[in-house]
Amino acid sequence: MCGIFGYINYLVEKDRKFILDTLVNGLSRLEYRGYDSAGLAVDGDKRNEVFAFKEVGKVAKLRELIDNSGVDMTKVFDSHAGIAHTRWATHGPPSRKNCHPHKSDPKWEFAVVHNGIITNYKELRTLLEGKGFKFETDTDTECIAKLAKFLYDSHPDLDFTTLAKTVIKELQGAFGLLLKSVHYPQEVIAARKGSPLVIGVKTAKKMKVDFVDVEYSQGEESGYALSAERASHNVAVKKNAANMLSPSARGMLAPPDKSLLHRSQSRAFLSDDGMPQPAEFFLSSDASALVEHTKKVLYLEDDDIAHIHDGQLNIHRLNKDDGTSNVRAIQTIELELQEIMKGKFDHFMQKEIFEQPESVVNTMRGRLDVANKTVTLGGLKQYISTIRRCRRIIFIACGTSFHSCMAVRGAFEELTEIPIAVELASDFLDRTAPVFRDDTCVFVSQSGETADSLMALRYCLERGALTVGIVNVVGSSISMLTHCGVHINAGPEIGVASTKAYTSQFVAMLMFALSLGEDRASKQKRREELIEGLGKVSEQFREILKLNEPIKQMCAKFLQNQKSLLLLGRGSQYSTALEGALKIKEISYLHCEAVMSGELKHGVLALVDENLPIVMILTRDEIFKKSLNAYQQVIARGGRPIVICNTGDPEFPPEKVERIEVPQTADLLQGLLNVIPLQLMAYWLAVAEGLNVDFPRNLAKSVTVE
Ligand code: F6R
Repeated sequence: MCGIFGYINYLVEKDRKFILDTLVNGLSRLEYRGYDSAGLAVDGDKRNEVFAFKEVGKVAKLRELIDNSGVDMTKVFDSHAGIAHTRWATHGPPSRKNCHPHKSDPKWEFAVVHNGIITNYKELRTLLEGKGFKFETDTDTECIAKLAKFLYDSHPDLDFTTLAKTVIKELQGAFGLLLKSVHYPQEVIAARKGSPLVIGVKTAKKMKVDFVDVEYSQGEESGYALSAERASHNVAVKKNAANMLSPSARGMLAPPDKSLLHRSQSRAFLSDDGMPQPAEFFLSSDASALVEHTKKVLYLEDDDIAHIHDGQLNIHRLNKDDGTSNVRAIQTIELELQEIMKGKFDHFMQKEIFEQPESVVNTMRGRLDVANKTVTLGGLKQYISTIRRCRRIIFIACGTSFHSCMAVRGAFEELTEIPIAVELASDFLDRTAPVFRDDTCVFVSQSGETADSLMALRYCLERGALTVGIVNVVGSSISMLTHCGVHINAGPEIGVASTKAYTSQFVAMLMFALSLGEDRASKQKRREELIEGLGKVSEQFREILKLNEPIKQMCAKFLQNQKSLLLLGRGSQYSTALEGALKIKEISYLHCEAVMSGELKHGVLALVDENLPIVMILTRDEIFKKSLNAYQQVIARGGRPIVICNTGDPEFPPEKVERIEVPQTADLLQGLLNVIPLQLMAYWLAVAEGLNVDFPRNLAKSVTVE
């Protein structure tokens, strides 16, 4: 987890205030990735001096610390490198000591910020302690800075890239990292293996760019059309896996391999006359933190080592002979700043709930043609016929993304008649579940970086399965590693609790099922009904969002200050119940359990009495009658449930139950509508408790650890 941000200017005069503000603002944009502590390192007043600031808590506390530090904010630098970090604790509790950046020694000769996990840090630590290094923190990161110093001390003639490569070759695990050193002033190394890193470039003049320059569109095919080299990923993944299996068999701390020197670098970023020009570079874990500075970005890939110095950006491969290209496309991101601001809303989560009428339209834009009853998914077009012939489709995901897979399982079974499995990524890996070449494995992830899902993807690639990504974040690892896929185009989701990504995943996967079922004449009527239904979803969302105030009041009256809550659903509404319960738990900290209604009588009914709050999803579908059994069982025990039902349903007398009415749609789409009142419920319960809705305790947006 964690967010990293860096800023390097070259021949562009900036005062320290600007540099510090840029870094701190970058961190606040990344705060959703972790908010236990924050820190940064910038150049000091004298040569070879580093100023580091670290604070426990949110980025605002770091800002306060800097404001009160008395450092000279007016000092101007025409070239400068700064690195920053916001942390979600994995190794060692949140504390100033464990806060990044980490240093090699008291003089800060090397400083590092890191997102991910170094799995062999204990080995490295023991080894370096044997060489006289004193470790001050509980983190896995500190060994990187110390290892760099150890190598530098014995090989001071090395250029920064070679030194960094040698260090990185010793690291196992997953990382995105930035490294800065007083020995290589105004230079930064950015390296990626498993954790995302994006570089934004800002130049005053038009630059000669030797990278492939591609205009990037969020529309049809999105990033999936860009990955011309995707076919080579199977090979790269296998090589990575082999690396991980042979820890330090490469001879830890052996002298650096001189042949690594610059040979494997890609082209530099130069002006027309071949001379470096004034430039600013912004490095970030996520492109959304870059939009206020530049829209020209390039995404690093695994085993890329970027060296930024003197207005140039050079990309090297960790292993120059790995057969992969080091040319990275410069892309234009389509994000606007207001998309990542809260605007008139109090919280990002609230904004994202209210964005859903638009975000689902963006998911369908250019893909769903309601008038002609067609669906075209550009990123899957070439693979649809292969997928139709597969032996089964396995959906693999975590958390909310897992629930969206559960929600569309019935649609896939009905429209494709292909066996469907839905797997939690961690459990799938724990079981080393069998996967075959003729399986299609679909990876669903908002961030595209979730470690469990990413590892499951690598596992499936190694077994030769066809892999499909359903992701929101363009340029994310899952979107880059899968053979094909669909970007859900929900726009940036910043609130830690996922809302609009769920509904957009649902819609994207439903369109996927519709595409697969297109060749079946027997399904045509059903397809048309669903396409028509999708065309109305946005308007129906707007209708449901009008319930905001009544739901707020209902929460205050019936659910606040309760100890526990049951959420009942049957059939595809079980997944809605699961998702609602997760939302309520994660942001309001109220214990909430989703129960499959049919299972109530097999045990959970013992909990039911006139006091236990219960929400029942009872919208009309094929199994409505069966769902009513659970309702009767609750009523018979004196329960007074809150019922989510279709508008005007006479079945639930208002004197017996509290009603939340939602419009009726095709049964397979009903879950899309039913989840919205539950999102609002979670939101208002959390607000009523005075909790920090966007930053629930102990959580982070993108879980890049196992
Ligand atoms: C819950 C939530 C998490 C994520 C899960 C997977 O609101 O957001 O459960 O759904 O961590 O994340 P992605 O979708 O990024 O793979």
